[in-house]
Amino acid sequence: MPTLLAITVSPRYEHSTSRKLTELFVEKWRSGHPDGQISDRDLIKTHLPFVDAHWIGGAFTPPEQHSPESAAAIKVSDDFVAELKSADHIVIGTPMYNFSLPAVLKAYIDHIVRVGVTVSSDNVGLLTGKKATIILASGGNFSPGSPVERFNRASDYLRQVLAWIGITDVEIILADRARAGMTGETAVESFGEVVSLAAAA
Ligand SMILES: Cc1cc2nc3c(=O)[nH]c(=O)nc-3n(C[C@H](O)[C@H](O)[C@H](O)COP(=O)(O)O)c2cc1C
Repeated sequence: MPTLLAITVSPRYEHSTSRKLTELFVEKWRSGHPDGQISDRDLIKTHLPFVDAHWIGGAFTPPEQHSPESAAAIKVSDDFVAELKSADHIVIGTPMYNFSLPAVLKAYIDHIVRVGVTVSSDNVGLLTGKKATIILASGGNFSPGSPVERFNRASDYLRQVLAWIGITDVEIILADRARAGMTGETAVESFGEVVSLAAAA
């Protein structure tokens, strides 16, 4: 059964461009995969601790050596990895913050990049055979040819880190210049078609 994991990041909910477009993506994906399964991972509502010494102890020692604190810290990561492994397609709807990723998304990435789990000790990504679609909402214009295109530190980073764990089939939709204001409606009009096509691919 094909499985889609939808990761959302914006705290703006009904006003959010990235959430509206991710909802559209999910809707189109569902209609193309009537037997598919969809998991939602809303990072704003997720318990998402930062990597700390307990987490590092858990990640780099065998389970039988884990302290209770390390076991608890690494279980958060294990659960995210299991969810990711079970997905065939991952859609991430995220805002751009300060030319890069919101901190919650970076915190999530720090949980899912694990030596020996999602990337081998000789640097081979282990989550192969998956596809990812990134919907990146921003106020500015970072499209090819824009004078500030190179200011976008989110797209290349996401491509790089996903490739690192084996996800190389990545499409990025730049929902930029949406001028969505408080509603995000303009964004759906402007980017709805490209999002629908990505979901159907
Ligand atoms: C804290 C913060 C930082 C932002 N930084 C940028 C930025 O660096 N470049 C940009 O073009 N837009 C930036 N924006 C605008 C958002 O990317 C834009 O409003 C986007 O639509 C937010 O996504 P959302 O509608 O899904 O919440 C920023 C917004 C916030 C709240």
